[in-house]
Amino acid sequence: MSVEELLQNRVSIRAFSDKPIADKALTSIFENAQLSPSNCNVQPWQICVVSGKSLDELKTQFMQTLMSGSKPNPDFNWLPKYEGIHRERQFGSANALYNSINVAREDKKARQMAMVRNWQFFDAPYAVFFTMDKYLDIMGAVDLGIYAQTLSLLLTEQGIGSCMQGALGQFPEPVRKVLNLPDERGILFGMSFGYADENAAINKTKTDRATLESAVAFFN
Ligand SMILES: Cc1cc2nc3c(=O)[nH]c(=O)nc-3n(C[C@H](O)[C@H](O)[C@H](O)COP(=O)(O)O)c2cc1C
Repeated sequence: MSVEELLQNRVSIRAFSDKPIADKALTSIFENAQLSPSNCNVQPWQICVVSGKSLDELKTQFMQTLMSGSKPNPDFNWLPKYEGIHRERQFGSANALYNSINVAREDKKARQMAMVRNWQFFDAPYAVFFTMDKYLDIMGAVDLGIYAQTLSLLLTEQGIGSCMQGALGQFPEPVRKVLNLPDERGILFGMSFGYADENAAINKTKTDRATLESAVAFFN
């Protein structure tokens, strides 16, 4: 697939089959993701790929954290209040998602339940956490974003679905605990991945994009 085809094929996947990914394919995907560019080539990403018992344990810990009523406490400035057009687009993407699974706008409970699925990794067999030393802040966040997009395209190329999740950076303590990460390590965000459940309605969510003219200005 060309890069253009990869970009046209990639959509966020939020329902998965439990089919495992061959070890060789998995290693090769992460080997290639290492080719991502970064500021001064510092390669700040510390990538945690989680599956099996560790993933189950994380799900349990996340559920306990949510049930205890804990408020999100991200390591980085990750709780933006979108304004204006950004807020409209935020609502647009949420509506696209909830429409696909027939959840009404006023059904707050169903929306909350759908949100909780984030911390169950949408039942994906794999998750990845994009982590870095906390002091790196925005310098590192740019590089991790680039890494994440590289990874999602490599996964798409192999027919593997994924969903980037800011939600996975909202409660960093359970992640540090289960993955045994030092305090100075920050959890920026994460991604669930695996083969898509082709029949799931949620995977039919369609988002749009603003026009080229509204986003790109050419200066001669
Ligand atoms: C940095 C980032 C964080 C995201 N966080 C979440 C999330 O927590 N939960 C979720 O379901 N989708 C999340 N998404 C997916 C976006 O909602 C999705 O990319 C957007 O609506 C466009 O849809 P598409 O990926 O299908 O093209 C995130 C995407 C990015 C890039």
